[in-house]
Amino acid sequence: MSKILAANFKTNHTRASTQEYVEKLDTSMGELGYLDDLYLFPPATALNNFNVKNSIHIGAQNAYPTIKGSFTGEIGVEQLEEFNVKTLLIGHSERRHILGETQEFIAKKYIWFIEKGFKIFYCIGEPLEVREAGDKAVRQYLVEQLEGIDTSYENLILAYEPVWAIGTGKTATAELIERTHSMIKEMVDKPLLYGGSVKPQNLAEILAVPGCDGALIGTASWDAESMISMLEIAK
Ligand code: G3H
Repeated sequence: MSKILAANFKTNHTRASTQEYVEKLDTSMGELGYLDDLYLFPPATALNNFNVKNSIHIGAQNAYPTIKGSFTGEIGVEQLEEFNVKTLLIGHSERRHILGETQEFIAKKYIWFIEKGFKIFYCIGEPLEVREAGDKAVRQYLVEQLEGIDTSYENLILAYEPVWAIGTGKTATAELIERTHSMIKEMVDKPLLYGGSVKPQNLAEILAVPGCDGALIGTASWDAESMISMLEIAK
């Protein structure tokens, strides 16, 4: 199976710089002969109908489970449709821990968007204190993060992102990723990405981990040259 790479811009890049980034990546994908799918999650203000030759798919980092309506600060399906966006990130730890999204709300959002046929990148991952409590505690935590989620949905991609590895430079070891991915795959048999301080220097080792189907990359994806070097590694 080919590897899936996904770039999460979080609150970085403007509309203009995203356009420039997409153009650079599209050119490089052609030159490198990178044929796999690449997913890009720009901020909502940079969503666009990009004219690309290669398989660059644009997803939204967040959306509210509505077509349209009175949900100040949110975007719904009507805004996503304008840019043909049919891919959505749900359950990211920053939305769970910083924005306070509860599992109940996340599950509601998930069910609503799968009914609309969206491809979902669904994130799970434990904080440090749970990791330190051992595998059993991690398993229980991840089970709770899957509560209310219909994991039989065909357009589901999971991402395991330990909170302590996100944006910290502390990548999980290959051994830990393999062990946790195998635990998750016992629960959900879907493509499973790893996320958490993935960068050009560790991508090859991470993609070689059995049970790792790709990577969800934050910080190291924001620079086009860094992302291009990761495409070269994943090719
Ligand atoms: O969505 C991406 C993850 O939060 C990983 O972010 O690569 O900056 O650690 P990071």
